[in-house]
Amino acid sequence: MRVAAAIVSFLLLAACDTGTEQRDAVASTRTVQRGYEPVPPGTVPRGASAQAAALAPPGPERTPALLARGEERFRAFCTPCHGVSGRGDGPVVSRGFAPPPSYHDERVRALAPEQIVQVITQGKGRMFPYDDRVLPEDRWAIAHHVKELQARGVADTPRQGSATP
Ligand code: HEC
Repeated sequence: MRVAAAIVSFLLLAACDTGTEQRDAVASTRTVQRGYEPVPPGTVPRGASAQAAALAPPGPERTPALLARGEERFRAFCTPCHGVSGRGDGPVVSRGFAPPPSYHDERVRALAPEQIVQVITQGKGRMFPYDDRVLPEDRWAIAHHVKELQARGVADTPRQGSATP
């Protein structure tokens, strides 16, 4: 009889111990997961100071990769109005939207990359701001592509109709 009682109490204690261990294990896993959550790659810093730092001149280095990214983003966001060549002959303009000035006008040619970044961020006149759609680094990439178009000159750039979209 005593032996049976001892076995029962042993089993009860063992069961209790196991439960405690499991609870501890679950609790510690939760703590570890919270503490070590990695920052996903490509995370964009948020907040006013991070934005200001990303937009401060001179911006990222003007590499071939940055220019390629700029051309790609420019085609996505800017050609509807400005056209592939920057002449201001995009398809939206041909449907009645007010035409922007040509990038090849002397006044626009004189804009520095940071001024173009500012136009993308804040908009200008009838042009909407693009700060909610174009990341700060991409604004620099686009600005350098615009400078590249201007450096190539109007004679060397295709008209909207003859270029691939
Ligand atoms: C919906 C049409 C439209 C789109 C899209 C557009 N723009 Fe414009 N943009 C304009 C118009 C219109 C103006 C002339 C604004 C004014 O002076 O009223 C302009 C002006 C400009 C100027 C000249 C500013 C100056 O000082 O005269 C720059 C540079 C420019 N845009 C860059 C861009 C870039 C870069 C993009 C793409 C991120 C872009 N725009 C997208 C319509 C557009």
